[in-house]
Amino acid sequence: MENLDDAGVYKLSDDVALIQTVDFFTPIVDDAYMFGQIAAANALSDVYAMGGRPLTAMNILCFPMKTLGTAILEDILRGGIDKIHEAEVVLIGGHSVDDDELKYGLSVTGIVSPEKLLTNSGARVGDRLILTKPLGTGIINTAIKAGLVSDDLIERVSKSMATLNRTASELMQEIGVHACTDITGFGLLGHAARLAEQSQVSLKLDSELVPCFSEVADFAQQGLCPGGSFRNKDYYKDRIKFADSIPEHMQDILFDAQTSGGLLICLAPDKADLLLNRLKKAGITEAAIIGEVVEMGQQLIVID
Ligand code: CO
Ligand code: CO
Ligand code: CO
Repeated sequence: MENLDDAGVYKLSDDVALIQTVDFFTPIVDDAYMFGQIAAANALSDVYAMGGRPLTAMNILCFPMKTLGTAILEDILRGGIDKIHEAEVVLIGGHSVDDDELKYGLSVTGIVSPEKLLTNSGARVGDRLILTKPLGTGIINTAIKAGLVSDDLIERVSKSMATLNRTASELMQEIGVHACTDITGFGLLGHAARLAEQSQVSLKLDSELVPCFSEVADFAQQGLCPGGSFRNKDYYKDRIKFADSIPEHMQDILFDAQTSGGLLICLAPDKADLLLNRLKKAGITEAAIIGEVVEMGQQLIVID
């Protein structure tokens, strides 16, 4: 808890530490099967972010039995189970309650070798930063609720959120990296600020290099930002400096609260291109080097 990391870690022996995490939320897409997949990918992600291997999962379900039918319930659980199987994780149980508001997620248990544990505190001056998924899921989900998003974009965003961070995690572990976190509710800048704080460094980001869904700028300009994104901006704005040339809506995108976002990886500069190439070869085509780690300065993050 002290290091504000992605998951709880408990050392069992010199060789093995347990990683435990729990995540659940209300639906973000209309398609129940897709929602189940996204919720599972999101819950598994914290184990991947810490360099671990998830082993078991348990379902957590709050379901309004009186208003929603069992078909929806089955679709959600099927989405979750399919994603869990894809991750080669075993579902060992769960718990459900009757609730007015639908919520679904998982608790996940994984393992890691204690020396290979990746936290928020390992970033070193000179490191490069790689982000593996495009930003904008919070803004686009808000636009979906307003009925403004094309089917094609809904499909692309859903697919991105349902994509496991497993391959990215395995590739970064193969190459060896210094720190990692996944981008979720605090947005890119919120999670990056925590990483900078815990590592006692500052980060320099180039906003033009940050991958975003192509249509997200339009929606952000229309002010379609979720409440969480504004809270992120409010909380961190004093410790983050934007170049004057960066428009307000781009700042909103950088603070946008993500669901099942990508990994933010810190690694030595001579390894950055190698990892980026391997990520792209593995189909993680939106991955990009978005900045670097510098000596701790006045601001946690400076963005050009
Ligand atoms: Co996390
Ligand atoms: Co989490
Ligand atoms: Co029970």
